[in-house]
Amino acid sequence: MQLRDAVEDDVPGILSIYNEVITNSTAIYAEKAVTLDERLAWFKLRRQQGYPVLIASDDSGIIGFISFGDFRAWPCYLHTVEHSVHVRADRRGRSVGRALMEALIPRASALGKHVLIAGIDADNVISLKLHRSLGFEQVAHFREVGRKFNRWLDLVFMQRFLDGPGAAPKSQLTRKLTSPPPLADRERPPTVIVLSLNESLAGWRAACDRARARVW
Ligand SMILES: CC(C)(COP(=O)(O)OP(=O)(O)OC[C@H]1O[C@@H](n2cnc3c(N)ncnc32)[C@H](O)[C@@H]1OP(=O)(O)O)[C@@H](O)C(=O)NCCC(=O)NCCS
Repeated sequence: MQLRDAVEDDVPGILSIYNEVITNSTAIYAEKAVTLDERLAWFKLRRQQGYPVLIASDDSGIIGFISFGDFRAWPCYLHTVEHSVHVRADRRGRSVGRALMEALIPRASALGKHVLIAGIDADNVISLKLHRSLGFEQVAHFREVGRKFNRWLDLVFMQRFLDGPGAAPKSQLTRKLTSPPPLADRERPPTVIVLSLNESLAGWRAACDRARARVW
């Protein structure tokens, strides 16, 4: 099995795994299959944001993918991201999900994120077990907030600190920061995105400070 950053050509393989999960499970709270254009737009947005999309592959093609995005839209959630991980049906239970998670966590740390969130259907015992074993702690259980296949769904939130106990070892973090995974030139996020992110960061911090000053 190989793990690497996804490129645009991987999107059809990602789409096929994603739509199988939508059709056959309650792991994704959606009923309608997604189109290739919609998944391409999702992929491009992740790249624009500088967020990773990782894939696992073997001789048979793409066998799983993982990614994270912003947890909530408001600026002061900047340091928290929410991930999703899906493994192709015929490769589940063979540690692909674990390998993808272990590859993603240091990438979130390297971007300076503080908390990683997993939103997991309460009946998804395999995903709950996987996340628990990776240091995630259950912090919320929402009752009947989703509805699919004609029944109510409970949603569990689990979280893991990225720069606290259980975080990626410092040496690993430094390695990731100084030598990011190799990307083809056309895949490398343009510097201008990094700069604008830093600028927004300063803006968001100032907004947070102003909000705090008002409250206190
Ligand atoms: C949930 C999912 C990502 C886990 O990935 P995976 O590759 O199947 O899981 P792994 O082989 O890495 O195993 C993870 C843990 O679950 C356990 N597990 C895996 N398959 C299992 C099964 N059929 N029954 C019981 N436990 C199982 C493993 O024992 C392992 O725990 P352990 O290492 O402590 O023994 C994958 O099964 C999947 O994509 N499922 C459908 C979509 C989904 O639920 N996505 C997650 C949304 S939150």
